[in-house]
This record gives sequence, structure tokens and C-alpha cells, in this order.
Amino acid sequence: MTHLKTPYYLIDERKLKKNLEVIAKIREDSGAKSVLALKCFSTWCVFPLMRKYMDGTTSSSLFEARLGHEKFGKETHAFSVGYSREDIMEMRKFADKIIFNSTSQLEMFRDDVKGLKLGLRVNPGISYSHFDLADPARKYSRLGVLDKKKVMEMAPLISGVMFHFNCENDDFANLAKSMDYIGEKYGSLLKKMQWMSLGGGLFFTKKGYPVKEFCLKMKEFSGKYGVQIYLEPGEAAITQTTELVTTVLDVVHNKIDIAIIDASLEAHTLDHLIYRTTPRLSSPVPGPHKFMVAGRSCLAGDVFGTHKLKRPLKVGDEVRIADAAGYTMVKKNWFNGVMMPSIAVRRLSGKIEVVRKFGYEDFRDNLS
Ligand SMILES: Cc1ncc(COP(=O)(O)O)c(C=O)c1O
Repeated sequence: MTHLKTPYYLIDERKLKKNLEVIAKIREDSGAKSVLALKCFSTWCVFPLMRKYMDGTTSSSLFEARLGHEKFGKETHAFSVGYSREDIMEMRKFADKIIFNSTSQLEMFRDDVKGLKLGLRVNPGISYSHFDLADPARKYSRLGVLDKKKVMEMAPLISGVMFHFNCENDDFANLAKSMDYIGEKYGSLLKKMQWMSLGGGLFFTKKGYPVKEFCLKMKEFSGKYGVQIYLEPGEAAITQTTELVTTVLDVVHNKIDIAIIDASLEAHTLDHLIYRTTPRLSSPVPGPHKFMVAGRSCLAGDVFGTHKLKRPLKVGDEVRIADAAGYTMVKKNWFNGVMMPSIAVRRLSGKIEVVRKFGYEDFRDNLS
């Protein structure tokens, strides 16, 4: 039990290490390198641990790329759906690879990035996603080049290609089938490349995932086409490592008991609101008492779900929202001026360190 002031995000390095060990094993057994997708998680206080197991970072913008370079080190992959010339001029100082989203951007900036490893995002036209919002192969998708002829024309300008076509894919058979499809369709291109990225969205750290088969597939594929495979795990690297720890401020009743906590779904776990998903609670544990857990913002739907709990909630009780790292901390915001959760880390030693506290000045200076 800790006596930190809530709300706070608590990252557990021992849990993180378990995911990282799977990533390192994949590297060892298959040769596939992993770069952390900073769009998912960029809380750099745990990068010293992560960098021991991963090969670097990949980014979606100039600032992410710079953070990866400054705080993580190793390989810095840059990607953006749209670069400006200013981005390119900055990025070329530290990025190892610059991946373009379109042939027009590649042609626009190729002379500015001479000597760097360049790549192109290819949209294979297939995907695995439960959400249209996150489906890179959705109708009218702007993510990557679909036209194979255009991709082939660019081959002399690039050393690699990136395919990101999965979202929370825990189905290895589906992935294997998609890789076979990509191999058949783009095999002649891949044979001209030095590297290819399979993007993120692969759930290989999930309990029960067939990591051995996955490694065999990666090894076979990279051998067949002579490419270094990169994986870009975001969620898989940090899943199940972090809690949002909160305190009940009030209990009200409207046909159901509603516990109001000192955090907000919209401000502190925004992805649940975007995707209409319900977070799991890690504490209290399940039981017979039905409670709605709700946030303290004024949004009527600021609700962390209705849960059946072991004990009834009362003012002052602790409520822990599970799995609060991925696409969560990176999206936290100052809506309603609600107190921003501090960031704490349970280090490998077991010691809890508060690495960041936020105050009124941070709220004020977020705008002007
Ligand atoms: C290009 C790219 N790489 C990697 C990722 C990370 O995906 P995930 O966090 O699902 O592993 C994403 C997520 O959108 C992405 O767009």
C-alpha cells in the first residue's frame, strides 16, 4: 500500500520487464528488431529499462522523433503522415530512417535527405482491426501507398518499406495469412529492400500468444526475401503495466450507486471515450456490489463503467483503473481543469518513485 496523493498513474517496472523479455526473446529467436511506437507510450522515465530490450523508437511527428532520439537513443525511425520542409530539416539531424507516407512526399523531400535510409509506407489493402476508426485499410484511407505500380517505381529511391495493417491482432493464424499475402504481392519489391517494418498492432505479449510460431514465421519471411524485419510495438510493450490510482470523492444515487472519483475518463483515459470501451478495475476486485464509477468532469458520459465489486464504495476508498498506459498517458489533457494525475514508477527494486507532479501552473501554461 502506498500513501501517494491521488490521482496518479503508477507504472510497474517488473510488469514492464515481463513484456520486454518477450520482445527480447523474439529478437533473439527470429532476428526481428523492435522499435517502440511512441504514439502509444512516450513516458520516458522508464526508457532506461526499455532500451535494454528494444532497438529504438518509431515516431509519428518531429517531436516524437526528437524525444526518441534524446531520451531513448539507439535507432530513431521517423514517420509522418505529412512532413513539412521544416520537419525534414530538423529530423535529418538525428533520424536514422525517414519513412514517407506517400510518393509525392518522397519525391518532394528526397534531395533534402540524401544519405539517409529512406522508406515508404505501403498500404497492402488488408487489415485486422475491430474498429473502423483505427482501420488503416478503411475506405478512402490516406495511410500508405496502395498503387503497387507506383510503389515499384519508387524502389530505387528507398531501402525499405513499412506495412502497418494491424490493430490489437492476437490471432497468429490471421497474421501468418496476411504475411503470405504480402509476400506474394510484394515479393519482388521486398527482394530489392534491406528492411521492412510490419508496423504495430500485434499482441505477442498477450498471455497464450504462440510466440514460438511467430518467431518461426518472422525468421522464415525475412530469410525468404532477404530483409531485416522491424516490429513497431506500442501496446504490446506496455500492456498491463500501469494503473490509474484514484480516490472516491462522493457517492450519489440515481437508480444505481455512483462513485465519483478524483479523475476523469475524458481527461485521463481518453481512448475509452473515443472507442466506447470500458476499462477494467484492478481494485477493488469483483464481487456482489454494483457501482457505477464516474469521473469528476462535467461531461454527462464521463463514466468508467458499471462494475460489480467485492465491497461497496465509500468516500475515501481507492479505485484503481487497470491498463492505463497505452494511448492513455499520451492523450491526457486539461479538460475542465481537473487535477492532472502525477506519474509514479514502481522500480524493479520495488521502490515507488514519483517522477512528475502537475499543478495549477501547468494548467495555466498549457494555453495562454
Ligand atoms: C505506423 C504505426 N506503427 C506502430 C503502431 C503501434 O501500434 P500498437 O500500439 O497497436 O502496437 C501504430 C499504431 O497506430 C502505427 O500507426
